[in-house]
Amino acid sequence: LQNQLIDSFGRAHNNLRISVTDRCNIRCFYCMPSEDVQFVHRSKILSFEEIVRFVRLVAPLGVNKIRLTGGEPLVRKNIPELVKMIADIPGIQDIGITTNGILLPQYAQALFDAGLRRINISLDALNAQKFQEITRRDDYEKVREGIRAAHAAGFDPIKINAVSIRNLTEDEIVPFGQLARETGAEIRFIEFMPLDADNKWERDKVLFAQEIREILTQGIMPLVPVEQTDKSAPASDFVFEDGVGRIGFIASISNPFCMSCNRFRLTADGKLRNCLFSLDETDIRKLFRTDAPDAEVIDAVKKSIAAKKEGHEINTARFIQPDRPMYSIGG
Ligand code: GTP
Ligand code: 5AD
Ligand code: SF4
Repeated sequence: LQNQLIDSFGRAHNNLRISVTDRCNIRCFYCMPSEDVQFVHRSKILSFEEIVRFVRLVAPLGVNKIRLTGGEPLVRKNIPELVKMIADIPGIQDIGITTNGILLPQYAQALFDAGLRRINISLDALNAQKFQEITRRDDYEKVREGIRAAHAAGFDPIKINAVSIRNLTEDEIVPFGQLARETGAEIRFIEFMPLDADNKWERDKVLFAQEIREILTQGIMPLVPVEQTDKSAPASDFVFEDGVGRIGFIASISNPFCMSCNRFRLTADGKLRNCLFSLDETDIRKLFRTDAPDAEVIDAVKKSIAAKKEGHEINTARFIQPDRPMYSIGG
């Protein structure tokens, strides 16, 4: 246990989320500013070799689960190659990616062939107009094509992430329920969190998981809980009572999963964050680029985890929104 990443609340950190770029090909309002996005200069983005060095250092500390995020991870070149490099690291058992799906027609097969099996696709609306309102781009059909490409490449199951926002996405809920029933994809409804660029978040805009469940019950049929196999998974899973169609709720506001958190993050510019909402970071890139020995890097990682707070404080008056929005931290 000496050599595991256990924080002061007893949580073991085996799940590392690596952002590979802060760039994105769409502009969701809850994540990015509408214009003049300041992206990190290429020279400050970790190379594949640096990412691999980091994963090699933390794998012996119990890290066995990796998820690639962004920005949009697939706008970075050669991601299938990075998947292979990470899959080859001893101890890594599970690699996933979270993508907006637009580039999947090009990359789904190569990702599958590289050994990737877990894919989460972000799609907040099944109405093209609404999609454009949220993303400020008209790529709805491309995402649908991307989902088909992921199915065709062999990804199964596929999870679809739908951020839910009050007075905006209520009409999307039942169609998403139907999609879950028709395609076998798991639809996960996500409560809107205060990580947007333009400070548009307000509690009144959070559409709570309980309300979404009610809308599905009224519009389709009741949901019954599925036994949770992974206790640190963010979603509570349900299935419609006839057994067809899987639904998840990621209730980060109304029912935070911080008590069972197993995750930490490496940003595209090489900063380690012990929480999505942490206000401090550890500069791994600087350590790497000043030739710090492995032991020093490992020590810095352990210190970061040891300093982790109990959880986010969104539901308290103490809450301070991190100055980096979601695209810059990593989803
Ligand atoms: P699985 O391994 O498939 O369970 O992936 P995941 O659900 O952990 O990853 P994904 O990238 O699909 O994240 C889904 C949603 O969970 C995101 O949209 C976030 O809203 C939320 N989320 C991810 N990581 C965190 C976190 O560390 N804290 C909180 N509060 N929410 C998170
Ligand atoms: N609140 C909740 N989810 C968010 N995401 C991005 N920004 C937010 C936010 N402010 C989601 C994306 C994607 C995942 C990585 O995070 O839609 O599904
Ligand atoms: Fe973990 Fe922080 Fe996310 Fe809570 S908010 S689940 S502590 S990363």
